[in-house]
Amino acid sequence: MTLSIPQEVVRYLREADRVVALTGAGISAESGVPTFRDAQTGLWARYRPEELATPEAFARHPERVWAWYTWRRNLVRQARPNAGHRALARMERLLPSFTLVTQNVDGLHQAAGSQRVIELHGNLMRTVCAAQRHEVSRWEPTPEGQVPRCPRCGSLLRPDVVWFGEPLPAAALQAAVEAARQAQVMLVVGTSGLVHPAASLPLLAAERGAYLVEVNPQETALSGVMDAVLRGPAGTVLPRLVEAVWGAGVLKGW
Ligand code: OAD
Repeated sequence: MTLSIPQEVVRYLREADRVVALTGAGISAESGVPTFRDAQTGLWARYRPEELATPEAFARHPERVWAWYTWRRNLVRQARPNAGHRALARMERLLPSFTLVTQNVDGLHQAAGSQRVIELHGNLMRTVCAAQRHEVSRWEPTPEGQVPRCPRCGSLLRPDVVWFGEPLPAAALQAAVEAARQAQVMLVVGTSGLVHPAASLPLLAAERGAYLVEVNPQETALSGVMDAVLRGPAGTVLPRLVEAVWGAGVLKGW
């Protein structure tokens, strides 16, 4: 890939004190975690989102939803962070103020070394009960096809992720909105920009004068509001961006 980083992008990042990155499923694609909307291999290829990721689906077919998340947990357990995750972890150390906001539930940013990650859609590896939201780390094994229950209140267990129609965790959303309002530069990486309120964050940042940079091999719903577009996979583009701004040595030994 012959992608060069535009000088304007380099200049904005060098001069910025407050940078925000918003990430989506695309940054984990190179780690082997499928994105949601890829027509063939995407996570929604077999079932529609509302058949798997809604409270109604869980009420109707809890075993199907639990099985789907068990499959995803196993995928994520085998996944390792890629160079894109690592480049963002490095940016956190290089910038005076860097906020990473993710829609991903896979924990790969933290595995790459990012210390402060705002998780807008929860975390796949955490389990809570459906009734009380008790966090549960152990439960009685159940026969295949049955959903385990909360040892404290007896309600069904579910992953601690946000489903369609559910509110985002209030503190995370508030922190993300605040960061977007303050941002001088926002990197929008690997997201189709179709799911709100996450997809509104770049618009909010732009209203406040932030310089927006998209990192994505494809055009997205947000491409039109970008100041710069870097068309390529995050695992290649982000390390190049870091080197272009802070020098080639900065990624040695990471
Ligand atoms: P999508 O599957 O909608 O979009 C993934 C994006 O990543 C697309 O724009 C791809 O072009 C891009 N992409 C693919 N490979 C890439 C790569 N190597 N580098 C960079 N970009 C790449 O995923 P999200 O936008 O994250 O919510 O979806 C947003 C939310 O909708 C998800 O968090 C999930 C979903 O349904 C919930 O489950 C609540």
